[in-house]
Amino acid sequence: MRRINIGLLGCGTVGRGFVDLLARERERIRGRDGVDIAVRRILVRDADKPRPGINPSLLSTAALDILDDGCDIIVELVGGVHSAGAFVRRALANGKHVVTANKALLADSGRELFASAERNRVRIGFEASVCGGIPIVRALRLGLAGDRIESISGILNGTCNYILTRMEQDDLEFDGALRLAKERGFAEADSALDVGGEDAAQKLRILGELAFGPQHVNMRVHGIGDVTHAEIEQARARRCVVRHVATARQVGGGIEMRVERRELPEFHPLAGIRDENNAVVIRGRAVGELMFQGKGAGSLPTAAAVLSDVIEIAACSTMTP
Ligand SMILES: NC(=O)c1ccc[n+]([C@@H]2O[C@H](COP(=O)([O-])OP(=O)(O)OC[C@H]3O[C@@H](n4cnc5c(N)ncnc54)[C@H](OP(=O)(O)O)[C@@H]3O)[C@@H](O)[C@H]2O)c1
Repeated sequence: MRRINIGLLGCGTVGRGFVDLLARERERIRGRDGVDIAVRRILVRDADKPRPGINPSLLSTAALDILDDGCDIIVELVGGVHSAGAFVRRALANGKHVVTANKALLADSGRELFASAERNRVRIGFEASVCGGIPIVRALRLGLAGDRIESISGILNGTCNYILTRMEQDDLEFDGALRLAKERGFAEADSALDVGGEDAAQKLRILGELAFGPQHVNMRVHGIGDVTHAEIEQARARRCVVRHVATARQVGGGIEMRVERRELPEFHPLAGIRDENNAVVIRGRAVGELMFQGKGAGSLPTAAAVLSDVIEIAACSTMTP
């Protein structure tokens, strides 16, 4: 049985979920995959914050203690671009595998980080960076590796979908639906990246690169901040619904990506996606149309995607026995 030591950076929504899920599944993973995964250290900003269920002796506020320690895999769940980027660069340079849920970091510096991983002969797992619990990264990277992808379309931002669904079902204007999304924990205090479309655009860039490879991208992004209840009612009168849809397709000269509000007929596969759920429709030349849907965020669904990367790297890599 190989022991795999994790250096966990961040113990917030997803980090805590990761610790909980690993505690529940550790024995099963030992039996199934022949690896014993243990969290060795946890980086936080504030070591005095109450963290029920977390062993306080694992906590540290000194990133280098963890990055330069003997961990096999660094799991980055800090978020943001600057500190997280510095941590990931250091981990890769130290020859450590990295698992991250950080779409913003990958959208900003993905190519540089993957080049560094290749130079240092380590891997970066990023299943959790797009659509939380939906295994869409692995589907594109492995499951569909034999086919040529023609297009991807999806509802990639749960906050926007929640707002549009509430406007449609509760007859709310945008501000009322956004307030509800914040009260229920589906929107951040600063929701600009979500409602402005940039969050969905970052996820689409990651999926587009997996599906089509590195190519010139023509991206246009429009959010939902100016949607009105009247627009939703007019769509309803035409037996349609309004959804915030991200699409990527190969065109002459590169990849065309669009993130925008669209009026979809009620029978469209994405029209039935409600509340905070996410969905992705992939059209492959050989397989035809495939649809994935489910929880695109949240503590445990996202942690499950993080843990799946840890298991894949642990089971496939040669690490110190
Ligand atoms: N939440 C979701 O549902 C979800 C879904 C998909 C992907 N993601 C991604 O997962 C990542 C983590 O998100 P989250 O929601 O778990 O974030 P979060 O709840 O804000 O937690 C962030 C954690 O990182 C720690 N931290 C932040 N900056 C730090 C620094 N400079 N040095 C040391 N520790 C630092 C915080 O420490 P303290 O606890 O001491 O403040 C906290 O424990 C993000 O990249 C996010 O985009 C999240």
